[in-house]
Amino acid sequence: MLLEKLNLGMSIILRISKTFPSRILFGNCSKLSNNLLPYLNLFYWKSKIKKNPLEKNGYVKLPYNLDLKLISDVKKQFNELMKNPDKIYTQKGSSKKLLIKNPLEINGIKNLIDIFKEELINYYDGNYIIDRISCWRTLHDNSRDSKKEKYVFSNYWHFDDFRLDKLTVFVLLNDYTDENNGSTKLLNATNTKSLTRRFKYLDTSISNFKLDDFVKKKNMIVYCNGNLGETYIVNTSKCLHSASIPGRGKYRDLIQFEIYHSKKIGDPFEKFN
Ligand SMILES: [Fe+2]
Repeated sequence: MLLEKLNLGMSIILRISKTFPSRILFGNCSKLSNNLLPYLNLFYWKSKIKKNPLEKNGYVKLPYNLDLKLISDVKKQFNELMKNPDKIYTQKGSSKKLLIKNPLEINGIKNLIDIFKEELINYYDGNYIIDRISCWRTLHDNSRDSKKEKYVFSNYWHFDDFRLDKLTVFVLLNDYTDENNGSTKLLNATNTKSLTRRFKYLDTSISNFKLDDFVKKKNMIVYCNGNLGETYIVNTSKCLHSASIPGRGKYRDLIQFEIYHSKKIGDPFEKFN
């Protein structure tokens, strides 16, 4: 037991010391290589110089601008798959998050990129590629109502450790998503950098509750709320973020696209053909 605790303590200390250079230089906890590699691309310099809002704030919210039939058809198929135990799975230790095995079974899912493709073309100054598509539903957990939430599905404040030019797109699939049914929470890039450099955020395992109180008091939390089909593009390596647990009897549905820059002009879904 003591040895286990000691081991855990050591691995946290190691993690914190490994992220030290990125923390001070870039205000995030991604590997140094993940911070430096994007600078090999001209678009990254341009996005910094142009002060693109997505680059500056670390996120952007887009309205749903397509045919309503498309998003309601997608939602209908999503719901059907969720009802079928053969079509969904859970990850180890995370029974409150139901994932669809094959998101491409949803007809029309690829067409959703029309919501955000202009924003991506602008950010990447050209072409992008979809690396992964995921669809999931988050469920209520009783610990939501206790003083300290349990860790059930990324619901503690954290960074993702990806290349800093990777973007994550969240298409909201509830009729309305808000704090009650489990919207994603995030901090904008400026607040994230400042809190990280000032060591207000140290590591997910030790910072969550204190940080959560602090950012709530300071009104810093951006809740990814919105209507069906509304979309957030988020740089999850640049913005501290956390999932939130839906209220009792509620759930939150989401489609996620993970995006990288591409040097080639071509089909963004090339990986899926
Ligand atoms: Fe994350």
